[in-house]
Amino acid sequence: MLRPMKIETPSPASLTHAAELLRGGALVAFPTETVYGLGGDATNDLAVAAIFAAKGRPSFNPLIVHVASLAQAESIAFFDARAQRIAATFWPGPLTLVLPRRPEGGISLLATAGLSSVALRWPAHPVAASLIAAAGRPIAAPSANRSGQISPTNAQHVADSLGERVPLILDGGPCAVGVESSVLDLSGEAPVLLRPGGVTREELEIHLGPVLLALDSPDAPKSPGQLLSHYAPRLPVRLNALSAEHGEALLAFGPGSPNATANLSPSGDLREAAAHLFALLHQLDQPGYTGIAVMPIPDEGLGLAINDRLTRAAAPRPLGSK
Ligand code: TXA
Ligand code: MG
Repeated sequence: MLRPMKIETPSPASLTHAAELLRGGALVAFPTETVYGLGGDATNDLAVAAIFAAKGRPSFNPLIVHVASLAQAESIAFFDARAQRIAATFWPGPLTLVLPRRPEGGISLLATAGLSSVALRWPAHPVAASLIAAAGRPIAAPSANRSGQISPTNAQHVADSLGERVPLILDGGPCAVGVESSVLDLSGEAPVLLRPGGVTREELEIHLGPVLLALDSPDAPKSPGQLLSHYAPRLPVRLNALSAEHGEALLAFGPGSPNATANLSPSGDLREAAAHLFALLHQLDQPGYTGIAVMPIPDEGLGLAINDRLTRAAAPRPLGSK
């Protein structure tokens, strides 16, 4: 039987309760600085299986394992000097590192899809960090939405998408970054950006030199979870639009768009646009429109992550999907 869903404001008592749920193998949705996560004990196969079931994921893609300290991360994966430097620079924060997995690290093989690597992130959001520390376990957490839908950037999005499938949602308000973490593969010789996200390629290159983009390099390792159609609203999405066609909602970027239905950032600030992206796609995804037309976004800085998500939202949908 499904347990009733609860939305709670984080407090010492609700965090203790949430940590107990996690230790008992139950799922908890919680805020991070990127998007809301659907968390389960990453060392418990049943909890990880429950995450896949609640999301309705078509296949067992590997999940990001969230930690609350470098020592915890180092008990799960091998950090070379380069990984230590990057972790010291960007953690806690919106960056996930794919590193060689320690076989004795205790992570469920379902969470890593049996790979010899593991994806690790130490989130900066105080609620996420407190919850993981209180649980005393690494927490597997994909975005807290049904598979293929837009990622949630507030507690109501989680409730609308997962409903009774999650017993508890911690409400930490809107997410500041608004797109998922960057996934950086440091398991091989050359650093590869598997998924553009909250830390930009430019910022990473200051510390690493050239960073390959998995999208551009056919030989680069792929992120197994990067399905082409993803992050999809129900309505069709049209990119690089200069104006709306009949019946479409127009999602603008930058100044000088008086006919826009909504604007990602009227001043043209990519950080603001990333923070508003998913909430505005949710807002415009209404049956009163025939589609969502999105104006061009520069492909630099956080624009790389924004355009990656928008390209997936606009990609042809698998047959039979809604
Ligand atoms: O911002 C985020 O990262 C959010 C919040 C909740 O922290 N989490 C998130 O998790 O987006 P998830 O599980 O949906 O994203 C996992 C991504 C997928 O693209 C997956 O393929 C990749 O990380 N990944 C996980 N383990 C991997 C591995 N061992 N090798 C390569 N890619 C991996
Ligand atoms: Mg997701």
